Amino acid sequence: MLKSSIVVPVVMSVTALGMSACWYLASSLPQVGELSAQTPPRSAGRSLSPLSSADRVIEQHAQGMIERGRQIFRFDTFGSEAFWGGALQLHKAIAGEKNGGVGGGVSPKTALSVGLKVDVDALPDSLRNQLKAKEVDLDDPAATLALLKVNSVVGVTGIFDAGGHLQSMGIQCAFCHSTVDDSFGPGIGRRLDGWANRDLNVGAIVSLAPNLKPFTDLLGVDVATVKKVLGSWGPGRFDAELDKDGKAFRPDGKQAGTLIPPAFGLAGVNLHTWTGFGSVPYWNAYVAATEMHGTGTFFDSRLADRAQFPVAAKSGSSHTRGAPDRVTSKLAALHFYQLAIPAPKAPAGSFDKIASERGSALFSGRARCATCHVPPLFTEPGNNLHSPSEIGIDAFQADRSPTHMYRTAPLAGLWSHQKGGFYHDGRFSTLPAVIEHYNDLLKLGLTDREKSDLVEYLKSL
Ligand code: HEC
Ligand code: HEC
Repeated sequence: MLKSSIVVPVVMSVTALGMSACWYLASSLPQVGELSAQTPPRSAGRSLSPLSSADRVIEQHAQGMIERGRQIFRFDTFGSEAFWGGALQLHKAIAGEKNGGVGGGVSPKTALSVGLKVDVDALPDSLRNQLKAKEVDLDDPAATLALLKVNSVVGVTGIFDAGGHLQSMGIQCAFCHSTVDDSFGPGIGRRLDGWANRDLNVGAIVSLAPNLKPFTDLLGVDVATVKKVLGSWGPGRFDAELDKDGKAFRPDGKQAGTLIPPAFGLAGVNLHTWTGFGSVPYWNAYVAATEMHGTGTFFDSRLADRAQFPVAAKSGSSHTRGAPDRVTSKLAALHFYQLAIPAPKAPAGSFDKIASERGSALFSGRARCATCHVPPLFTEPGNNLHSPSEIGIDAFQADRSPTHMYRTAPLAGLWSHQKGGFYHDGRFSTLPAVIEHYNDLLKLGLTDREKSDLVEYLKSL
């Protein structure tokens, strides 16, 4: 009764306005609670009221922002070649001595083994065919240079001189926040923007650099120590606070990096990063100017706190003013693009549907998950931060943030970043371990079946 009393007037009012109700009836009728969340496709909206010229300006603006943002996300180095090439000389280690660099060079095999990805769409047919026919020597660093020349290494730009020699290199957002679908082969495929690259061993890549002086100077330690820190993170992790507070290891001696989170499904989410440093554009400026070492402006007086951020206080990164500013003018489109990337849907068959439905009821009911992970955002609308004790973990990483809190992690697309584990540092290696943690913490008294139902639900998000 309830269902028809709500559904019928909506359908009637839509048809009464002269609009075809086809979009509505053709798809299976949504559940009562979903009605308001269902948005008609654009064509339906159009036939209801054609776009005005002002509407069209907005549509064109949005399209332009997405295209520009995509370009920035994938290809903009923000001038970071001055750091990665100029200061660290990393390009020389990639090229190897035979190709005008130093050392043995980085072969495609090595590059793929440290998690770098190749964009198959960027490969010219000739190179693609050679790869298919296994005619490319994947042990030869010259082949890595060929891949860089056609701009196919995701998140890395090689800068070549007229003679074809690698002169420098810079990195992009896509380095850590994109992967590929492996459609051509392992590590080679079409780009998946926003996905966390949990294969990428940032520390191993950086430690190849012939000159680590920028790090030894900043942190006031020797090269061996810098290498030990870089070697501690492992795949899928990076420490975006190290150059602010100088905390290279946790007090218990474990590594201090955090997992690379996805950069999709962020629209509607208030605070970002594991510890809620700020909004998406806040963090984008932070990363572009202070982590990727592009040239730009970044301001946050909270980082001038000498006690919490001694290294930032020394380097002055709380008031970063690089000239020329290659970051600020890109923040709007970059923000827009990230908000436009949806969380990917879990593949059919990757979870048990019936069990996940039972899990959904538990999630919003007895297991109390939805008190913090509010569907469909799966984080709190509003101030989405919690003290370490509220989620039953130590304060180490929270205390590296101006908030001293942990942000309720948005869970949509969770299935796509299971590698490396869960929570900011991957301390829970599996989803059952996460559920076990909450079961103890919140004294939920879940049965074994309830626990596995919750796991199936998490896999479905
Ligand atoms: C070297 C790897 C790396 C690069 C390059 C990088 N990020 Fe990140 N990103 C991370 C890590 C690690 C975190 C988590 C930081 C934390 O919580 O302290 C993060 C966090 C984020 C978040 C927060 C996500 C969330 O769930 O709230 C966004 C958004 C983001 N990055 C966007 C970008 C953009 C845009 C760029 C390019 C300007 C970029 N990142 C470059 C590693 C990287
Ligand atoms: C008090 C608020 C709160 C409650 C209740 C809560 N969570 Fe969380 N959840 C968080 C916070 C905060 C984090 C981030 C922890 C971190 O960054 O280390 C998180 C992280 C997670 C993660 C890891 C996400 C990732 O990307 O690694 C999963 C999975 C998760 N929660 C599932 C659940 C489930 C299932 C329940 C119910 C049994 C639940 N949560 C209850 C606040 C909460």
